[in-house]
Amino acid sequence: MATTLIQGGTVVSAIGRREADVLIDGESIAAILAPGHAAAYGITPDVVIDATGKYVVPGGVDAHVHMSLPFGGTVSADDFDTGSRAAAWGGVTTIIDFASQTVGLDVREALAARHVEAAGECHVDYAFHQIIGDVNEESLEAMTYLVENEGITSFKMFMAYPGVFYSDDGKILRAMQNASESGALMMMHAENGIAIDVLVAQSLARGDSDPKYHSYTRPEELESEATHRAIKLARVAGNVPLYIVHMSASEALEEVSRAQHMGLNVFAETCPQYLYLSIEDHLAQPGFEGAKWVCSTPLRSKHEHHQKDLWKGLRMNELAVVSTDHCPFCMKDQKELGIGDFSKIPNGMGGVEHRMEMIYQGVVMGEMTLERWVETCCTTPARMFGLEKKGVLEPGADADVLVWDPNTKTKIGINDKHHMAMDHSSYEGFEVDGKVDTVISRGRVVVANDTYLGAKGHGQFVKRSLNKYIH
Ligand code: URP
Ligand code: ZN
Ligand code: ZN
Repeated sequence: MATTLIQGGTVVSAIGRREADVLIDGESIAAILAPGHAAAYGITPDVVIDATGKYVVPGGVDAHVHMSLPFGGTVSADDFDTGSRAAAWGGVTTIIDFASQTVGLDVREALAARHVEAAGECHVDYAFHQIIGDVNEESLEAMTYLVENEGITSFKMFMAYPGVFYSDDGKILRAMQNASESGALMMMHAENGIAIDVLVAQSLARGDSDPKYHSYTRPEELESEATHRAIKLARVAGNVPLYIVHMSASEALEEVSRAQHMGLNVFAETCPQYLYLSIEDHLAQPGFEGAKWVCSTPLRSKHEHHQKDLWKGLRMNELAVVSTDHCPFCMKDQKELGIGDFSKIPNGMGGVEHRMEMIYQGVVMGEMTLERWVETCCTTPARMFGLEKKGVLEPGADADVLVWDPNTKTKIGINDKHHMAMDHSSYEGFEVDGKVDTVISRGRVVVANDTYLGAKGHGQFVKRSLNKYIH
């Protein structure tokens, strides 16, 4: 098995940084060595990577992506091949996608079908959450089975999207009670979809059909109300661990913070789009342009305080994780389905490639520390979702490594750095500090010198254990 020494860099973890060399043996981290000490221990590595002046951090873990998701009358544009390759380009070495059970489907069959879609396609390691869209005796039984046998330890439910993924409160409570017994984590898309549908119909009846009305019909009250309700249901279900996905609004964050102060097992994530993009600068662009940024929860106004509060939430650990909710749709033939009717624009935007870059920019802007960047983008998502060998650089961990160059910049845009299967970039024109230098996935260099060296099929399915904050 080949040995690799990453030498001369600053190794950054969730708790600190130090000058150190990282020794990789095969697919695992073998040792973290004092700088220059490898020779003294008689180590002659097969490959040496010079990380002088650079940060050496765990490979990113993006805990919320949707490759090839059938949604909104189409299918998200990245499949497991293109999406996981773009992830690698972005310094992400593990993705967690979803298997979907909708009404009438069998949970185990839905999971098996998702395995077939992903097998042999991925460039980096991958895992699955299970979406539960039809709660009944069989699906509840299957939830327990998945936790005990399949390495699927988290379940996503939806308070939004009536008629698609939506579950009512009774169904959510029953699934939460089941998770409370098995130890699983419940993930919630917290928006009041029933009320939103009323606002959408009223907006269209008035002739307000441009993309920006997507956000105006999903006000923050309907995100915070659903967040509050999900928290209460989780408490009734025995304080089951609850993880609110893609949080965009200050009021919703307040609900999470209050629950945490009460000692409830409530966690939340946000995504780069909610930290940087807004109704005014993106969703409300003239004509149909804004469709690029139709996602749910929606972008919010830059004149309110959401972005400031979300950064604060990340610093204070009210928001534990940054994921992307990567769900790309091209303008052509996909977003275009909603010309003249914003409710028909497929919800989602792409960003799996840019999370490490966009959140590192938060470090440069003074919104968080370097250590917190590693914690929210690598270490906590791994611990949250039971990825035991991911998210840390320590002996025995998988050799998933990102060498990050802080001395240069990254220009993001469709004609600049862009490897996702989209015909536009959600972050067009952003120029951020720092750059993905080298990416290693289980010991294999997949990106170096602006060159792709990985391969489809290298990525393996990873079974997950229970959430490491509760169990
Ligand atoms: O707009 C979004 N977020 N699309 C993906 C599906 C979801 O709700 O996560
Ligand atoms: Zn969602
Ligand atoms: Zn999502």
